[in-house]
Amino acid sequence: MKILVTGGAGFIGSNFIRYMREVYPDLFITNLDKLTYAGNLDNLRDLEGDSHYRFVRGDICDLQIVNELMSARPDAVIHFAAETHVDRSIHEARSFVETNVLGTYCLLEAAREQRVERFVQISTDEVYGSLPPSGRFTEETPLSPNSPYSASKAAADLLVRSYVHTHRFPALITRCSNNYGAYQFPEKFLPLMINNARLGKKLPIYGDGENVRDWLFARDHCRAIDRVMRKGRVGEIYNIGGHNEWQNIEVARLVLKELGKPESLLQFVQDRPGHDRRYAIDAGKIGKELDWKAETKFEDGLRWTIRWYLEHEAWLDQVTSGDYRTYYERMYAKR
Ligand code: NAD
Ligand code: TYD
Repeated sequence: MKILVTGGAGFIGSNFIRYMREVYPDLFITNLDKLTYAGNLDNLRDLEGDSHYRFVRGDICDLQIVNELMSARPDAVIHFAAETHVDRSIHEARSFVETNVLGTYCLLEAAREQRVERFVQISTDEVYGSLPPSGRFTEETPLSPNSPYSASKAAADLLVRSYVHTHRFPALITRCSNNYGAYQFPEKFLPLMINNARLGKKLPIYGDGENVRDWLFARDHCRAIDRVMRKGRVGEIYNIGGHNEWQNIEVARLVLKELGKPESLLQFVQDRPGHDRRYAIDAGKIGKELDWKAETKFEDGLRWTIRWYLEHEAWLDQVTSGDYRTYYERMYAKR
């Protein structure tokens, strides 16, 4: 069997490729990634020289390269590639529209042309918008994206849906909650908190810190994607989540406690515009249909993740050098 993964040099994509190589020794994986600031070949350094893994640098908006890869008729396409950071989408949305919408269109067209038999669109719970203090997102929750990032993901999901409906294209959509684990770029909340805490820097908490996210360990997520890829029903949407809700401030405190750092490092900063208050996933459908549930207890996964970053300080130092500093100086100058 052979699969094409897009965005495999990023956080979840690299975890997914490593997971699949471990679980399926005979599987061939091609990874198409543009290597934006978020993509990093170091995330898969251990697979260099693996005869079952091939990296191709390229843009999913480039139909020539996408057509070429699809003509190898992969058994499945797992589409992770995206611009993913909400804060960046507030400052500059064009690349989100290009990659997340146009890029998904290019993949769909090429996959349809080559009669690819399975296409998994990796989406997000953020397409559903924000929840009040109670209730959870189901697959029937109306789409109500609030940021340019989530709007571009919702647009891509609708395009996928239209290909299923109009062209009988064999796609499935997964919508997961906030992932955490190894190799997450430290602009996202958890690795940012860990990185700043280890360096004794302030931990920027947006607004009152009481926004809630439903944390999902990346490896549990990879297991779910594998199950959807192999056993999911074409045309269906599967929500993936950890039933694991925490306020941001609680998570930041746990990080400080684990690292033995003082709470005086917490710094409340100006809120993100349009900041979604709460996300929570109802993962009942994937549980019932595909016998999946999140297995990692948050406290264990968090401890493992913190240890991973501490053991990979060189990785952290490398990805937070250069442009990263410029980005943060610009972001925080505005707050
Ligand atoms: P990431 O930002 O860590 O990685 C994205 C990858 O896509 C990078 O390797 C980047 O180089 C690549 N990429 C970007 N534009 C590209 C293009 N035009 N062509 C080819 N490659 C390109 O993202 P992530 O956190 O791993 O997220 C992966 C997917 O999961 C995304 O589709 C995202 O919307 C979705 N998702 C992520 C989370 C989360 O918590 N991280 C939650 C829900 C959904
Ligand atoms: P983030 O990792 O950007 O993911 P999401 O896509 O869910 O917004 O942020 C997670 C939560 O943490 C979100 O409520 C915003 C908040 N946050 C902070 O409080 N401080 C920060 O520096 C960042 C990046 C996020």
